[in-house]
Amino acid sequence: MRTNDQIHFCPPARVILGCGSRAQLPTLLARLGYKSGVLVTDTFFSKQTPWVKEYIDAATALGIETVLFEGGKPDPTTTLCDDATQEIRSKLGNTRPDHVIALGGGSNIDLAKALCVTIPDGKPVKQFIGALPAAPHALPLIALPTTAGTGSEATPGAILIDPSNATKVAVMDNVLRPVIALIDPEFTYTCPPRVTADSGIDALTHALESYITLDSFDFDRGGHPDPGYSGRSSLTMLFAHQAIDLCARFLMRTYHDGGDTEARIGMAYASHYAALSYGGAGLNAVHGIAYAVAGLTHQSHGSTNAVMLPYVLDALRITRHKELLEVARLFGLDDKDEQQVVQQLPALIRDLIAQLGIPTNLRDFGIAQEQLPALIEDALAVTRLAKAFPVEDVAATYARIVKRAWAGELGRA
Ligand SMILES: NC(=O)c1ccc[n+]([C@@H]2O[C@H](COP(=O)([O-])OP(=O)(O)OC[C@H]3O[C@@H](n4cnc5c(N)ncnc54)[C@H](O)[C@@H]3O)[C@@H](O)[C@H]2O)c1
Repeated sequence: MRTNDQIHFCPPARVILGCGSRAQLPTLLARLGYKSGVLVTDTFFSKQTPWVKEYIDAATALGIETVLFEGGKPDPTTTLCDDATQEIRSKLGNTRPDHVIALGGGSNIDLAKALCVTIPDGKPVKQFIGALPAAPHALPLIALPTTAGTGSEATPGAILIDPSNATKVAVMDNVLRPVIALIDPEFTYTCPPRVTADSGIDALTHALESYITLDSFDFDRGGHPDPGYSGRSSLTMLFAHQAIDLCARFLMRTYHDGGDTEARIGMAYASHYAALSYGGAGLNAVHGIAYAVAGLTHQSHGSTNAVMLPYVLDALRITRHKELLEVARLFGLDDKDEQQVVQQLPALIRDLIAQLGIPTNLRDFGIAQEQLPALIEDALAVTRLAKAFPVEDVAATYARIVKRAWAGELGRA
């Protein structure tokens, strides 16, 4: 029994998960009294799938007006958010919307989250970045993820890119957590293999990283009364464990056969369960270093996480021995020698990443050895993630992880 846990759990108010569940949305919103919404998506969904038209027609028939914004783009910038705010406000005229719907991957959901705070007053999104003195006023968000995935439908943050320095910035508050997370696995059936691989490894990373992160008892909340992230607990670990098990069974299957519906559904559950874990517990070194790698390489979120994951697991073989042993068993490592099994796990995860067509060391990502000191410094500068890495000397361990990830070295003590 973990008697020291300090749980602060803030999930979406409603989680609806099931094939075909999208059909319930218009009547649910009508029942909840919503009248005027903004639907944020991209042209893939508005032009190449029936989902946008089906939703808008059904909602209109129930008296819910919807303004469509179909200009979503991968890895949205603050500029895109500001332009979208103006476009949507001008389409709305004098109407004030009472909800925002996001349809898409993490990019469209994050853009919609940020728009929930900018649409009401038309302010630039940069005014909502960083530590806010009070919870911002935000429109309620309904998130419909189409990848499995980022789990953004259950988290408090919207990640945007600041084009002035190409870094990722976050609008973060629990008021941004969607009021409805509707996960219809059928939305993911159209994901091409590259998107399936990148988003699937993202879900596995969320589950693993939050499973072995700092304990809630030790987590520094800085006196925040409503922290977005607050360390792992028995509650978050329950979801993480289940998500890891599902990823072990279904990630490769979805990649090899996008028509494998059982695997697609399994990954939809995995992604959301991983989000219910990391959306409370938070993350640490994989994402912290991956942000710096993305800053240098502009590679996708999932692939920059993936390249770091085996080396971070390797660095926690002693500190998180028990948890890594459990993970190794879920991935089918059944050797009796527990040390051996824990030692084999990072290599097994690295092989899986290679099979997903993602580079497995920083050299193959195009990073030069001379760039490593700056990369380590940038990673440590993401203090909200570095402070949750469960080792004594975070700076020295980050440096060791980055050097080994560059050289592709695993397995030394
Ligand atoms: N807020 C959070 O908590 C959080 C967490 C993790 C990642 N993120 C962010 O999420 C973004 C990555 O999201 P992602 O991995 O879901 O990819 P994405 O949203 O960037 O989408 C990638 C591409 O896949 C397409 N796509 C998405 N779903 C599809 C489908 N069902 N069929 C066909 N094409 C589809 C999109 O149109 C896009 O072109 C990054 O910007 C990252 O920073 C946010």
